[in-house]
Amino acid sequence: MSAKDTAMNDEKLYAMTGLFDTPDEIMHAAAEATKRYRKFDVHTPYPVHGMDDAMGLGESPIGWLTLIIGTSCMLLMLGFISWISLVDYPNIWAGKPWWNILAYVPILFETTILTGAVSTVILMFVVFFGMPRNNHPLHDTPYMQRTSDDKFGLCIEATDDAFSADSAREFLEGLGAKTIIPIHYDKAEARSGLSLTHPAFLVFSALLILFSAGGAYFLLNRMVFMPPYSWMSVQERYSAQSANAVFKDGRTHQMPVAGTVPRGYLPDPFKDDPEAMGKLMINPLPRTADVFATGKLQFDSKCSACHGFYGQGDSRLHGKFPAGPTLHSNKVKDWSDGRLYHVITFGQNVMPAYAKQLTKDERWAIIHYIRALQRSLSPKETDLK
Ligand code: HEC
Repeated sequence: MSAKDTAMNDEKLYAMTGLFDTPDEIMHAAAEATKRYRKFDVHTPYPVHGMDDAMGLGESPIGWLTLIIGTSCMLLMLGFISWISLVDYPNIWAGKPWWNILAYVPILFETTILTGAVSTVILMFVVFFGMPRNNHPLHDTPYMQRTSDDKFGLCIEATDDAFSADSAREFLEGLGAKTIIPIHYDKAEARSGLSLTHPAFLVFSALLILFSAGGAYFLLNRMVFMPPYSWMSVQERYSAQSANAVFKDGRTHQMPVAGTVPRGYLPDPFKDDPEAMGKLMINPLPRTADVFATGKLQFDSKCSACHGFYGQGDSRLHGKFPAGPTLHSNKVKDWSDGRLYHVITFGQNVMPAYAKQLTKDERWAIIHYIRALQRSLSPKETDLK
């Protein structure tokens, strides 16, 4: 009798099942079943603690699979990155070495997690649950209905070496099972002969892959270059450096109109006129503790190297750069705040401009601080009281 004939037979037994009333009974039953059978399972309406021990289940191997797959994919990725950065596209990125493990850590970490997690889920479904199995003899049986409600079930599979329908029934009775239900394969399903290797399924899968891949290829690589989608990219235009008959000088690239100001930039009318700036601009900041604190911080950091911490011209650069003059000269004392602002903003001879390093407020704060330094070296009578 071939397998097909057996499947045609209406009464092919899948398992003998028994229903129990309490968790204690099912624990006992599971422990007893381990002594006789290897292919059996327990179904309970909720997790019963200690059941894996009672059933003699070892540790699941899936953690090891996750580790092995995650690690291999990580090594594969490391190889891929190394190939890219050493062979295919060697490039210096931000002054780093050609091959720099630190930079690869995030991507290796992500690869390990991602491949480990995804493969675990797929393995669980395919290997452990037997997917893509589309039905199971236990589905839709009175046994399953009760064990997903209020009964505890033991299911002894017919493929077990020690199995015979009568002995299994006796065994379950001996354990005190209240109801014993034989489970048969679904006739319609057994007859349908559906399997993963069915030619119809294989052809369908192949066509599906072909159509979806072909469709994606067509959409992304062909369709976007067809009208009307291509209208944007193939319209009439001149490239920046090309010749151009429209303009007098024959170039596409035109100079900006005279007097054009770049966005975010205003020309400073005082740049070449320190005296005017000294006359017209006044220090907008109040003399508060905060402003003096900012002024001291910025002066110490940006000015003191050349002018000394107290502005006395005692440069710390030991002749490497012309020492800045004292800021306690009558000349500087007599200068208005606006005039000092000009020096800081545009520089003076070898002294560089500090407009890039200091905000406007910081410059004005430094000026208040310089005034305080000047006053501290030549205090007035009243200051000493
Ligand atoms: C790299 C050194 C250096 C730094 C930093 C520097 N200066 Fe000067 N500064 C000089 C030199 C050198 C001169 C003299 C320039 C000249 O020959 O006119 C000068 C001139 C000046 C003058 C004019 C003095 C005068 O008698 O003409 C003032 C005011 C001044 N600096 C303020 C500042 C302030 C405020 C800072 C900080 C924002 C600063 N400097 C940072 C080197 C420096």
